[in-house]
Amino acid sequence: MSNQKRRILTGDRPTGKMHLGHYVGSLSNRIRLQQEYECFFIIADLHTLTTRPDRESIGKIKDNVYEMMLDYLAVGIDPEVSTIFLQSSVPETFELNLFFEMLVTTARLERLPSLKDMANAANLDGMPFGLLGYPVLQAADILLPRAHLVPVGKDNEAHVEVTREIARRFNNLYGEVFPVPDVMIGDVPTLVGTDGQAKMSKSLNNAIFLSDDAATVEQKVRGMYTDPNRIRADIPGRVEGNPVFSYHDAFNPDVEEVDDLKSRYREGKVGDVEVKQKLARAINAFLDPIREKRAEYERDPERVEGYLRQGTERMRGEARKTMERVREAMGLYRL
Ligand code: TRP
Repeated sequence: MSNQKRRILTGDRPTGKMHLGHYVGSLSNRIRLQQEYECFFIIADLHTLTTRPDRESIGKIKDNVYEMMLDYLAVGIDPEVSTIFLQSSVPETFELNLFFEMLVTTARLERLPSLKDMANAANLDGMPFGLLGYPVLQAADILLPRAHLVPVGKDNEAHVEVTREIARRFNNLYGEVFPVPDVMIGDVPTLVGTDGQAKMSKSLNNAIFLSDDAATVEQKVRGMYTDPNRIRADIPGRVEGNPVFSYHDAFNPDVEEVDDLKSRYREGKVGDVEVKQKLARAINAFLDPIREKRAEYERDPERVEGYLRQGTERMRGEARKTMERVREAMGLYRL
């Protein structure tokens, strides 16, 4: 056994500020894994083009990347330990993507419901070739650093399966170049939105952002959906499936306080106001150190960009090595 650490690749499309749902679902996992694995975190700007290739959307990418960097750094992704990089600045991604396009059928990709959902959500009146290729591009991301493990949400599981198929197919045709990476699906339940909808999401307007200030958090928590049948504080309420209590479970470390609130809620002996005040306090206590770090990095945008540049350079080094092996294995004629 070599003592080389196994590699992780995962990441996000730069669509804006990250929220508590991202933290619970993926960021906390990454922080936990970054010592044990050699981690590559991709900011997948090319993937945003699959549904939004217009000039205006492209114009927003830079700010979104910066916000995402601040969120990553603020929650404790350590740029000296992990490699954070910008996808479009690693040109080998485009090359590997093209080779991979030969190793998967359109029928295979057309069966993926996620792509149709994305096309619908973006109001596209057809399936762009590039959107059909979304999982192929993702395979290039994952296999470029020859990652072994891909921690993603359930919505990306089928894409990683495509990556596995492509890796196997490549290895069969040309020889063993790529690990067949495992997917890692978090076991934490998806954080519901403040409105009680299934998922916290920026576009649903039900998110608490990692960058929200204390007053904003208080205001959002005050407006949170709870048990709709409980029109007075002395009516017994439902704790199960109640977003306010899901959040207490996720962010309030004072288990005794949470248990006490739950039993009083069930008995109709506590008002929503108190439950929510305590929740806002807990979320703010959780966010305070993140805010502090964020503010520190915000004072030095060049340092933030420097980390991205340094990570992208490091990724390019790995990408060049992989592409050497790829071309060698494929036996492609070169000048
Ligand atoms: N598809 C991911 C998303 O839903 C982003 C992404 C792009 C990604 N390339 C990746 C995730 C590689 C994991 C591995 O936003």
